[in-house]
Amino acid sequence: MERLVIFSGAGMSAESGLKTFRDSGGLWENYNVYEVATPEAWKANYKMVLKFYNERRKQILETKPNKAHYSCVDLEEKYQVNVITQNIDDLHERAGSKNVLHLHGEIIKSQSSIDSSLVYPIEGWELKQGDLCEKGSQLRPHVVWFGEPVPKMDDAILLMVRADIIIIIGTSLQVYPAAGLINYAKPNAKLYFVDPGNIDLSIEKDVTQIKEKAGVGLPRLSKMLLSK
Ligand code: APR
Repeated sequence: MERLVIFSGAGMSAESGLKTFRDSGGLWENYNVYEVATPEAWKANYKMVLKFYNERRKQILETKPNKAHYSCVDLEEKYQVNVITQNIDDLHERAGSKNVLHLHGEIIKSQSSIDSSLVYPIEGWELKQGDLCEKGSQLRPHVVWFGEPVPKMDDAILLMVRADIIIIIGTSLQVYPAAGLINYAKPNAKLYFVDPGNIDLSIEKDVTQIKEKAGVGLPRLSKMLLSK
């Protein structure tokens, strides 16, 4: 079976009703990233950080996977599929994708604020002040903040290096190290990029660009790849 990697960003979940970050009207227009998504923000005002992620979690739990998430699952009929997602939502899993790697963490989980190896599921949508890990420290969202290492990067690189087909979808490719992953594609890998925006790919590889929303572009591409 050929190996196929889907590398997704916020645009993947846009048609499920979740805001992207950098589009006009995106999340970072209304929030200062340094005040809600950095270790410094946590130190300065952890209640505000908890509130920000509680709102996100509530919204995510109320939404559903869209056509593009389901197209990723369809591809498993014919390919060994691995999803590498920058998204912290669980929509790929809920659609049924078997292998999902979350580069930037998972919002439905919490982690200890003194030992990041202690990870727990969150019951419901709210992580509260006073919710503690087994070592007695406040629990924080299990997400990777700006300025923090990306622990799953090595696993993601390995998947990229081995992939025969790579579909990049719904990402502005502005956040590193995630955006650098595409440089690990092997020379003969076939690359596709599905995104309605004007994204500068600036890589020295042949990429087939599909300038469509995920819910249109991915079902079409998936159909083509399944009939090959
Ligand atoms: N279908 C596909 N793509 C879409 C759609 C859609 N319906 N709507 C918007 N997009 C595209 C935009 O054109 C843009 O290229 O989704 C992309 C969203 O880009 P960003 O908002 O920058 O999101 P992303 O690339 O996932 O951000 C990376 O930044 O803030 C952090 O940790 C956060 O994981 C996130 C990282």
